Amino acid sequence: MNIEIQQKDEHTSWEELVNLFKESFQERLDQGLNFICSFYTPEELERRSANKIVLVATDKDNGNLVGTATISIIRKPNKTWAYHSNLAVKPEYKRYGVGTKLMSEWMRIAESQGCEYIKSDTAELAASSVSWHKKNGFYPVSLHTYWNANYYSIIFRKQLKHHWFWSNPGWCAVRYSIVSTIYKSYRKSDNSLTTLGKLIFFFKNKR
Ligand SMILES: CC(C)(COP(=O)(O)OP(=O)(O)OC[C@H]1O[C@@H](n2cnc3c(N)ncnc32)[C@H](O)[C@@H]1OP(=O)(O)O)[C@@H](O)C(=O)NCCC(=O)NCCS
Repeated sequence: MNIEIQQKDEHTSWEELVNLFKESFQERLDQGLNFICSFYTPEELERRSANKIVLVATDKDNGNLVGTATISIIRKPNKTWAYHSNLAVKPEYKRYGVGTKLMSEWMRIAESQGCEYIKSDTAELAASSVSWHKKNGFYPVSLHTYWNANYYSIIFRKQLKHHWFWSNPGWCAVRYSIVSTIYKSYRKSDNSLTTLGKLIFFFKNKR
């Protein structure tokens, strides 16, 4: 196995990437988690990847496409940060460090672009992905749901420039515990509102 990481070019088609997502995310479908990556069409993936950096991992020994990850650089007036998404590794290559190699490359890109931190997210119940994020220095910081998904997503953050709060795993753990408990009290995993959530939004809209 001789893994090379590069930015996607014309040698890799959107269709090949869609097939890689389907294979890689099958374990999530088997778990009953409907990750959007499992349902991309080539056209949709291309549209969603506009203005983002798409990395591909290739096994140089056989030329196979074995992994991918996407990074977006977000520039705001007061800070620059990066968002990482669409991480997928071909099933027979999982747990050989391909995901970590992809991360090293997007970390290098984010640092070279002056990013303060990187955010990423994954399903709370996607054990391998949650473990992968934690092993690679990401701290869970909050919770989120998407309207078309059926799971809670943990938002992870990895600080590239030291910060008194965000670089401290203890503070992040306390924050995550409070924020996730509050979030779950008003939002269900499929993004709909709980009874409490309906009440809150009812009174909020009346004001
Ligand atoms: C999550 C994923 C990208 C990890 O990529 P990878 O190349 O297999 O991971 P690496 O070899 O770089 O890192 C291995 C670490 O990841 C975690 N991990 C990976 N697979 C795991 C599994 N089946 N069970 C538990 N932990 C796992 C562990 O922390 C592991 O470290 P360890 O072997 O010392 O225990 C890959 O499993 C995958 O493509 N999963 C399906 C798609 C997905 O969930 N993508 C993430 C969505 S954000």
